[in-house]
Amino acid sequence: MQFRDLQRQYQALKKDIDMAMLKVAEGCNFIGGMQVKQLETELAEYVGVKHCITCANGTDALTLALMAWGVGKGDAVFVPDFTFFASAEVVSLVGAAPVFTDVKKETFNIDPCSLELQIQKVIDEGKFTPKVVIAVDLFGLPAEFDAINKIAQKYNLKVLEDGAQGFGGSIYGKKACSFGDISITSFFPAKPLGCYGDGGAVFTDNNQAAVLIESLKVHGKGENKYDNIRIGLNSRLDTIQAAILLVKLKAFKEYELTAVNSVADRYTAELDGFVEVPKIEKGYYSSWAQYTIRLENKEQRDELQTALKEQSIPSMIYYQKPMHMQGAFKNLGYCDDDFANAWELCDTVLSLPMHPYLSAKDIEESTKLIKKYLNRRKDI
Ligand SMILES: Cc1ncc(COP(=O)(O)O)c(C=O)c1O
Repeated sequence: MQFRDLQRQYQALKKDIDMAMLKVAEGCNFIGGMQVKQLETELAEYVGVKHCITCANGTDALTLALMAWGVGKGDAVFVPDFTFFASAEVVSLVGAAPVFTDVKKETFNIDPCSLELQIQKVIDEGKFTPKVVIAVDLFGLPAEFDAINKIAQKYNLKVLEDGAQGFGGSIYGKKACSFGDISITSFFPAKPLGCYGDGGAVFTDNNQAAVLIESLKVHGKGENKYDNIRIGLNSRLDTIQAAILLVKLKAFKEYELTAVNSVADRYTAELDGFVEVPKIEKGYYSSWAQYTIRLENKEQRDELQTALKEQSIPSMIYYQKPMHMQGAFKNLGYCDDDFANAWELCDTVLSLPMHPYLSAKDIEESTKLIKKYLNRRKDI
């Protein structure tokens, strides 16, 4: 069993993917081919925003958004303490200060109460100016954008939706990657919509931001790429990746997104009552970048992972460490025991195999083993 079975996906889509790649090789438009524009149009339409600008990866997409807003030295950017490193790395990269906030255990996403407390703290201390909140759609579930956007308005902050894991999710039908002033996603191969290497995209309704990001991603180009009017990046999505993504987007829309939701429903039906299963609030829809259960404590989680491994069932711990404990952020002045929920999640989470091609037999095999392990522990 594979944790995310890209082989099975390739076999299912082989004919179309091979043809799409061959067409790029034959056309030799490796950079900026027509597939890139077509993908941007289709992605913007799917997400329901005016502009989609593809780029080299999700980390660059976050960086481009912060650069477009001129975020830098003296600015505070609020980031959940439980996420992938890149969500906060980009803040330091542009010279601003990441300020961490706790998350909710049930959704894994930013806790609006903790966010407001941290904003107040920054204002009271007076060292940094609050500028942006980066709200992450962790494991595929959109963050609580109603509450987050209200807080952002109250304190005049921009919202940057980190939808690297969230593409395909929605809240009452409104799609992930449309909730921020600027939103982004990643096409890293294991993401809900992944390419065959690195890739990313920025989404926005704001015309001015779109023009700036188009320039920033190509060395700060002006009239053309040899007219350079600002400092930017080299961050383009290769034509071959766009061609692959066009095939995969079709499958994603036609059946893959519903397939991962069926897998999640099966897991939940089997495991609810045995472990803490992911809770999806009314109106929310996840794209299930991960299906993550919570165990009672670290010992139980680690033992269960070993038991699964012994039967060749892969599982992952996303994430081992809260952000504020990462070596790179040691100098920010946090205490080791800050952010109780993020800490508890790091000790208790376990992500199970999840992808659209996971069979009922695979699900049965892993859930049976999990229940057997938990029952045995109860008997000790
Ligand atoms: C939440 C989150 N943000 C940002 C990124 C960065 O995306 P990429 O790997 O495409 O740079 C990732 C990728 O793993 C992620 O999971």
